[in-house]
Amino acid sequence: MAGSTTESLRQLYEELPYPNVPIEASGRSAIGSLYRLSWTTAQYARTRAILPSEGIAILNVGCGSGWETLILAEANPGARLVACDLSPASVQATERRLRYHGFGEVELHALNLLEIEQLGQRFDFISLNDVLYLLEDPVAGLKALKRVLKPDGILRANLHHAYQRQVIFRLQEAFRLLGLFELPTPEACRRVREFMASLASDELRAALHWDPQIYSDDTNIRANYLLPGDKGFLLPDLLRMLQEAELGLVCLVDYADWDPTLLFKDRAMPAWLQAELDKLSPAEQNHFYELIYPNHRLIDFWAEHPGSSLVLPWSDADWLEGRVQLNPILMDNAEFRHNFAQAHDKKLEFAMNWPGASRGRLTIPAPQMAWLGSLLQGPVAVAGLIEQAAQAHRIDQEAAQEQVLTYLAGLESFLFVMLDPSPASLAEEGI
Ligand SMILES: C[S@@+](CC[C@H](N)C(=O)[O-])C[C@H]1O[C@@H](n2cnc3c(N)ncnc32)[C@H](O)[C@@H]1O
Repeated sequence: MAGSTTESLRQLYEELPYPNVPIEASGRSAIGSLYRLSWTTAQYARTRAILPSEGIAILNVGCGSGWETLILAEANPGARLVACDLSPASVQATERRLRYHGFGEVELHALNLLEIEQLGQRFDFISLNDVLYLLEDPVAGLKALKRVLKPDGILRANLHHAYQRQVIFRLQEAFRLLGLFELPTPEACRRVREFMASLASDELRAALHWDPQIYSDDTNIRANYLLPGDKGFLLPDLLRMLQEAELGLVCLVDYADWDPTLLFKDRAMPAWLQAELDKLSPAEQNHFYELIYPNHRLIDFWAEHPGSSLVLPWSDADWLEGRVQLNPILMDNAEFRHNFAQAHDKKLEFAMNWPGASRGRLTIPAPQMAWLGSLLQGPVAVAGLIEQAAQAHRIDQEAAQEQVLTYLAGLESFLFVMLDPSPASLAEEGI
């Protein structure tokens, strides 16, 4: 039988399916979400292989009003989608949204994720956004999902951060003391607004993260100050939970933004500190970052069956004989294509928000745009890019190679470009 938190959540989301995004809104310009929900991006992070999404099976768990499901459909062309949620009203909202956008073939179920095995299906990609931290027993949830994850599959989920969200957790506790969690939603939200309006100063309201515009919508008050079952975690908690569920961490979805060097001026730190940090594993380094500067609301991660992937670093030969391409979610994005082409044509710096990059922002200086522009045509031989860089900057082949390989390796670590190292694939296509 479902516990009381599960029942409160079901009732809450029956009343207010989440998020409250208009049905006609498209996710195609939401690059950040497309990145997080792209199977090709996740698989590239996991194995460094470029795997198209055509024909894969995706499970969206806790689909809410279908905003995440829609972006999954948009980010993964040709994939087969199954979505489920505790709340039948949320499932209906997802059905309407997906049909409106021409994805009428999504299979939908009003189902607790703990019973997902009932479907008798296995999935290449499982996504649950803003769901795991709500479960009474998140490890039981992970175990249930692991059972329906294919051997090479990827599970993407996230947890609320214990320190970033401290203020909201405190307010939840305060409002619980006042009995607001027991009231019908409209009355509880009215009281939260009245409480905030009565506070002595804007400073105090800001300290409680209150923004009247955002919280003019009851859905948002419910999703934060009055969210039943909400819990916070740190990276070691995630690692322990994955271990208990017998899953392995691929990496944080935005791992470049958890890099301790970002905390220091010009990214240089005292020698003793660098030496100590070098002794830590990547996950411990990320933990150090979150202790010093907990700026992420979510610990967003990709997980796999443990040890199912082995990634060896690329060699110079891989690069020199291979081809690079832009991340497919960029290739499909009209606004990106326009801005990237403009920066190339007008020899300008290019900048955009990109969750794979440090501080979530990617900037490509004008000199690199001189040779990166050709990536808009599709996969390009790295040797050709070196040629272009040599001509554009009037430098010799060796200097151009150094510049191109260094720069491409950086963009590849941000999952902005991908490398196909096999010259065989060129031969297959008769190039
Ligand atoms: C905060 S909403 C997130 C909606 C959607 N994933 C998104 O990010 O837009 C959480 C959703 O998870 C669903 N949920 C919570 N516990 C669940 C469970 N045990 N099984 C299935 N769905 C669940 C809720 O009904 C709700 O729709």
